[in-house]
Amino acid sequence: MWWLKDVWVIDPSQTLSAPRHVLIKGGQVLEMFASMTEEEVLTIAQGESVETINGEGKFLFPGLIDVHTHLREPGQEEKEDILSGSRAAVRGGFTTILAMANTKPVIDNRALIEFVRMQGERAGYAHVLPIGTVTKGMQGGELVEMADMKAGGAAAFSDDGKNIQNAEVMRLALEYAKITGLPIISHCEDKDLAGEGQMRRGMVSARMGLKGIPASAESVIVARDLLLAEETGGKLHLAHISTTESVDLIRQAKARGVNITAEVNPHHLIFCDEEMGITDTALKVNPPLGSQKDRESLIEGLRDGTLDMIATDHAPHTMAEKSRPFAEAPFGIASLETALSAIWQHLVVPGRLSFERVIEAWSVSPAKRFGLPGGSLKPGAIADMVLFDPDFSEVIDSTQLVSKARNTPFLGKNLQGFPVMVWVEGQLVQKNRTVLGK
Ligand code: DOR
Ligand code: ZN
Repeated sequence: MWWLKDVWVIDPSQTLSAPRHVLIKGGQVLEMFASMTEEEVLTIAQGESVETINGEGKFLFPGLIDVHTHLREPGQEEKEDILSGSRAAVRGGFTTILAMANTKPVIDNRALIEFVRMQGERAGYAHVLPIGTVTKGMQGGELVEMADMKAGGAAAFSDDGKNIQNAEVMRLALEYAKITGLPIISHCEDKDLAGEGQMRRGMVSARMGLKGIPASAESVIVARDLLLAEETGGKLHLAHISTTESVDLIRQAKARGVNITAEVNPHHLIFCDEEMGITDTALKVNPPLGSQKDRESLIEGLRDGTLDMIATDHAPHTMAEKSRPFAEAPFGIASLETALSAIWQHLVVPGRLSFERVIEAWSVSPAKRFGLPGGSLKPGAIADMVLFDPDFSEVIDSTQLVSKARNTPFLGKNLQGFPVMVWVEGQLVQKNRTVLGK
């Protein structure tokens, strides 16, 4: 049994943000109390040994749930695999991650869904739930066998990495989503508008002499998919929203009652294109970083609930790939181990976003929308949880990262505020920033 003494609990699922004593037993949250003596704990323990943690000055919250993680297995294990990615997850405070389907081969059938799920279970760190593709071969044409893949453990469907260009295919996918009850996750990017663009089109891309991706490449498809979700009633989730126009469109659709949720990535909340230089391939990401105005719209959208969730879009690549000239380097930022700390330091500490809203958006909201365990510390809930030390600071050092990837803009930088203990189903899997062995 665990006794977390005097810890500040943030649990938006029960509108709680206050000091508590928390008891964990048998992989579940047993109870929490405003005050508690050692005698009382021993009475409850009934002879079982009690591990006591002094939580003073630290936060305890339900483990983060990341609905957008690229784990690269099968096929690109030089970038990441399910074991390294799920270890990186618990180091960063994530107890459940949804694995994106754009692997090699892509996850477009039940056998591959079961493979990813089993590899996640074998790794035994975060819960790893597979996302299947929407279309066979991720080719944008024929739909996959969604019901069969759901039976094998698929948590959602997405052709992420690529947009579904054919509107009729997207409409049909949303019709099927009504039958499976699982969300379709849309990577909104009009192929023709995006062209060969390398970063957001604007003053900065012109100055750097790089081909630009206009903001409309995203918002045109956001508008299309919102209309299709409205017409069909299918469950739609919009990945990595990055523009002011998209936020406005989502706000309007929600006001009409459309069945949609949307996510924003930490890098779009923290960086903008003005901060980029020609050698900053670590910041090359798709959708690209937008303007200062976009960033403000995203923060406002997350604050007012237009954007429901934060998700990392952890996209590991090798340093060899990211060391190429900007136009040849792949898109993506590896972020599982730095994302929470970066949000804490860049948005929570300066007062732009409450920590309660961050936990709601990164744990409670994904659990609800995707029907996942976790997202709550109510008595009886699964003990997936994080102890966070706001004073712990760390230089992001390539020898410490447990992900295979090093493509983070924080490499060599100091971040403050980190998860210092992480439990999955009541088992301690990370302590003092070290992922425990199995
Ligand atoms: O930057 C990105 N990287 N955006 C995507 O949509 C895909 C991802 C990847 O798979 O590397
Ligand atoms: Zn994407």
